[in-house]
Amino acid sequence: MFEAVAPRYDRMNRILSVGLDQGWRRAALRELDCAPGSRILDLCCGTGDLALLLPRGLRPVGCDLTPAMLEIAAAKATRHRVALPGVAGDAMRLPFANDAFDAAVVGFGIRNLPDLERGLDEIHRVLAPGGKLVILEFSRPENRAVRLGHGAWLRLAVPGLARLVASGGEPYDYLKDSILSFPDAGALARTLGGAGFSAVSYRHLALGTVAIHSGRRGRRTAPRDPAPEAENGQRTTTARGETEAARFSVSRSAARSTA
Ligand SMILES: C[S@@+](CC[C@H](N)C(=O)[O-])C[C@H]1O[C@@H](n2cnc3c(N)ncnc32)[C@H](O)[C@@H]1O
Repeated sequence: MFEAVAPRYDRMNRILSVGLDQGWRRAALRELDCAPGSRILDLCCGTGDLALLLPRGLRPVGCDLTPAMLEIAAAKATRHRVALPGVAGDAMRLPFANDAFDAAVVGFGIRNLPDLERGLDEIHRVLAPGGKLVILEFSRPENRAVRLGHGAWLRLAVPGLARLVASGGEPYDYLKDSILSFPDAGALARTLGGAGFSAVSYRHLALGTVAIHSGRRGRRTAPRDPAPEAENGQRTTTARGETEAARFSVSRSAARSTA
């Protein structure tokens, strides 16, 4: 689905959020308190909108399952003259070594994961001890009246609007389904705690339709498995938090043209 939607993805975001989505991303990034040079994982990076808003001086790596999204992220990074290596990878089995990142951000991606707990466990694994996770995601308003209005907007307006913007594509029915079936903000916070994140907190934006969660990598109760092997059997590396074997080819052009 994201492969098909990729060329129109940014335009759809701007229209469906009535121009607010970049402000939400900026608000999420303000939760990151990272020293210059910190290694930042932008998981489910899509077209790179979140990573490209990071302050200069940090070292972001984008990771996404969909090559077409990564290609657009690489082209945008080139235009912005910033280094944004893109890694094709599945959040269920991240192609990075343990402790590879100082912080991780996930923008509108976590609700797409087939297994939330497993995804959080993988993020926990690749974060260095104390590393911060910030999640920006759609949420359900706590106020009953707003919740009803939001449900109606999602069911009645969003699929049609999306179809219009996407020129007849149906996939954006997924948007309402994935938002309505995702845990509310309190439940997500508890899941983060259960996955070993400490100092978990969240706040709502946009009348409760969006939430920003954050937490720090705390201790795990169960012993951790070794880092997964890349598909060709090559062990993940630590130098830049990337897997040489799994690195998507656009990352080389992005890094070369923006270094
Ligand atoms: C709604 S987009 C969000 C993109 C971007 N972070 C943003 O702020 O707009 C969700 C992204 O998650 C990616 N994705 C979905 N499932 C994934 C998985 N299992 N592992 C990695 N990426 C995944 C999709 O390819 C898509 O690019």
